[in-house]
Amino acid sequence: MKSAPDYLFEKERLDSLSALNILDTLPESDYDAITALAAQICGTPISLICMVDKERIWFKSKNGINATQIPKEAAFCAYAILQKEAFIVEDMTLDDRFFDTPLVTGTAHFRFYVGVPLMSPDNFPIGTLCIIDTKARSITVDQIKSLHALSAQITRLLELKIKIMQLMTHENQLRLLEQQINESARLSTLGEMTAGIAHEINNPLTIIQCKSKILKRKCEDGTFDLKTNAKDFDIINTTVDRIVKIVKGLKTYSRNSENDPFKPANLKSLIDETLSLCVEHYKFEDISVSVNCCPTLEIDCRSSQISQVLMNLISNSHDAIESLEEKWIKINVIEERSVIRVLVSDSGKGIPTEIVHKMTLPFFTTKELGKGTGLGLSISKGILESHGGYLIYDSGKANTTFALTFPKKRAA
Ligand SMILES: Nc1ncnc2c1ncn2[C@@H]1O[C@H](COP(=O)(O)OP(=O)(O)O)[C@@H](O)[C@H]1O
Ligand SMILES: [Mg+2]
Repeated sequence: MKSAPDYLFEKERLDSLSALNILDTLPESDYDAITALAAQICGTPISLICMVDKERIWFKSKNGINATQIPKEAAFCAYAILQKEAFIVEDMTLDDRFFDTPLVTGTAHFRFYVGVPLMSPDNFPIGTLCIIDTKARSITVDQIKSLHALSAQITRLLELKIKIMQLMTHENQLRLLEQQINESARLSTLGEMTAGIAHEINNPLTIIQCKSKILKRKCEDGTFDLKTNAKDFDIINTTVDRIVKIVKGLKTYSRNSENDPFKPANLKSLIDETLSLCVEHYKFEDISVSVNCCPTLEIDCRSSQISQVLMNLISNSHDAIESLEEKWIKINVIEERSVIRVLVSDSGKGIPTEIVHKMTLPFFTTKELGKGTGLGLSISKGILESHGGYLIYDSGKANTTFALTFPKKRAA
C-alpha cells in the first residue's frame, strides 16, 4: 500500500478537526442515520463517517464493520480528503496503491471504495463519508450526488452542534454573572444594615453591662441576695439569647446559599431570626413590627434565601414608611390546603400602578443613588420561583402588601 501524501494545509486541517471535539465521542443517532442512508442508496454492506486524524482514521459512525479506528497508512480516506470530487476505486486488486493492503488481501476482502470529503464548518476536509463493498463494482452519478448531499448534511450537523455548545457556554456565563449580581446585591443590603445591626447588638450589651455592674456592687457592699437577684441573672441570660439570635440571623442572612440543599425550616424562627437584625433599630425609629405565625409551621427551603427575601421586603417597607405618621410592618402567615402564604404588609397606602408594573424588573428603583440597587424584588421573585412558589404585590389591599406563596410539597 502506498500512503497518501499529507493535505496541503495539514496543520490547519488537524486544528480544525480537533476544535470540533468530536474525536473519541460516543456514537450519535444523527450521524448513524446518515451512514445507514448512504449504504441504502448505494447498496453497499459498509458505510462510514471517518475522521482523518494525524495518525489514524477514527469512525464517528460505522455501518457493517466492528473496528472503531484503523491506522492512517492503511486507509483510502487519506486519499479521499485530497480532492473535492468523490474518490472512487472500483476494484482495489487492480489499483497499484491498494492491491497489497491487508484490507484487500485479508478476510475483510475489501474491493470497492467511494469516499466524498467531509468539510468542517470552517472548510477543511476533516474526513469522509464513504461506502465500501466486498465485490468490485461501479457507482452511478446520482449515487455520487447523494453522497455529496449527505456529506453536506454532516457539515451542517457539525455546525449545529458547535452553535449548541456556544449557546450552552453563553448560558453558563450568564448564570455565573447573575449569581455574582445576586451576591453583590445581598452583600450591599447587608452593608446598608450594618449600622442597624450594631445597634441591635449594642442594646443588649448595654443591658448586660448594667446588670453585671449592679450585681458586682451588691456583692461588694453585702446587699446581694440570691432570691431577689435571681431575676437579674435571668435577664442577663435572655439578653445573651437575644444576641445569639441576632448573630444566628446574621449568619443565615449572609450565607451564600445558591447551591445549598432544600431543608425543612421552622418558619416562625426564620422570620424571628431575620427580624432580630432590625427590630430594635426600627423600634428606635418608632416603627412597630408584628409577626403572626403558627410556631410549628415548617417549610422546605433554603433558609438563607428566604431570610434574604424577607429582609428585602422588610427594608422596602421601612424605606416606604419611615417618614409617615403611622409606621408599622406586619408579617402574617396563613396556612392553606396546599400552600403557605406569607403576607408582608406595611402602613403605606399601596404602590402607584406605574411603579407596580416595573418594580420587579432588575435595577428598577425609585430610591436615590446609593440607597437602592433595584434588585431586591427581582432577586426575591427569582428565589420564590426556585422554591416552586411565587411573589406578588397584592393591589387589592388598603395597605401595601406583598404575598409570598410557597407550595407545601415542592415538586422534585
Ligand atoms: N413596600 C413598598 N412600598 C412602596 N414601594 C415599594 C415597596 N416595595 C418596593 N417598592 C418599590 O419598588 C422599587 C423596587 O424595589 P427593590 O427591587 O427592592 O429595589 P430597591 O429597594 O433597591 O429600590 C422600590 O424602589 C420602590 O419604588
Ligand atoms: Mg429593596
